[in-house]
Amino acid sequence: MKITVIGAGNVGATTAQRLVDKQLANEVVLVDIVEGVPQGKGLDILEAAPVEKTDTRIIGTNGYDETADSDLVIITAGIARKPGMSRDDLMNTNSKIVRGCTEAAIAKSPNATLIIVSNPLDVMTYVAWKSSGLKKQRVVGMAGVLDAARFRSFIAAELNVSVEDVHAFVLGGHGDSMVPLPRYSTVAGIPIPELMDKATVDRLVQRTRDGGIEIVNHLKTGSAYYAPSASAVLMAEAIIRDKKRILPCAAYLEGEYGISGTYVGVPVKLGRNGIEEIVEIKLSSEEAAALKKSADEVKGAIAKLSV
Ligand code: NAI
Ligand code: 2OP
Repeated sequence: MKITVIGAGNVGATTAQRLVDKQLANEVVLVDIVEGVPQGKGLDILEAAPVEKTDTRIIGTNGYDETADSDLVIITAGIARKPGMSRDDLMNTNSKIVRGCTEAAIAKSPNATLIIVSNPLDVMTYVAWKSSGLKKQRVVGMAGVLDAARFRSFIAAELNVSVEDVHAFVLGGHGDSMVPLPRYSTVAGIPIPELMDKATVDRLVQRTRDGGIEIVNHLKTGSAYYAPSASAVLMAEAIIRDKKRILPCAAYLEGEYGISGTYVGVPVKLGRNGIEEIVEIKLSSEEAAALKKSADEVKGAIAKLSV
């Protein structure tokens, strides 16, 4: 198994480190345009291997020759948000970057599956799919796993229970219109509306929607990367180990949930073949309308793409 991570910034380098520590591949290749950064970070991670007891090899590079025949490519390249910026502010810069990285990576690894992380997530996943020429099942976006992890951690803290017993679903685009689903969010199988009052549920839902900007406002010079890299690696593990996990991911819809022609976050079965199934759960009319509105926002952004 060989995994390429494109972008050796905060998310990309942390993703590479987690992949090596978990030994999810024989080889990890870290790519960035800045000379020296992927080489330095790659070597630093490699030198931690004896301490971490991992035999996964990692190299950093500014080119794509070393990425040839990767099974999985994770794209984190692009600019990140600063205070006052929305994810959509990143769109035109990042769409050029994501297109270039996708074309270069697929030229060397035509059989790879792609996980996209760059923002605005749903639009960038569409850009990567279009520029890759791959089947829609092989290009998947990471956002729902992160948004659900944030919701899970807030629920666990509120109820003072283990995060292990908390499950949550967040659908829709990775933006202000995301759709956390309290009815499908549970503690040991019990839906959270039975465990807390509506005002508390609403507060945790809003904190989940604002989860990205809460971190940006603390950091001031960039955005979150520990939880995002953990989420991308969870998806990588599902694919590499063919785990057939049911996870909320950005998938291209053609009629599922009454939505067509866009990537948006829905529950999928993730395995060796990428998105092996889009799982259609029963939504209330209010939840379905919120998902449709969120998908329409992504579609509107796709229509405005300049590349
Ligand atoms: P960062 O600024 O730390 O790293 C980005 C890296 O991309 C830099 O090292 C830069 O040199 C590199 N890069 C730029 N153009 C490139 C190119 N053409 N080829 C290769 N590398 C290139 O940013 P960070 O924090 O790592 O975030 C990366 C992206 O991921 C951002 O767009 C951010 O908004 C997004 N993100 C998405 C999340 C999600 O839930 N989907 C969560 C967290 C971040
Ligand atoms: C986040 O949600 C910036 O999209 C990134 O943290």
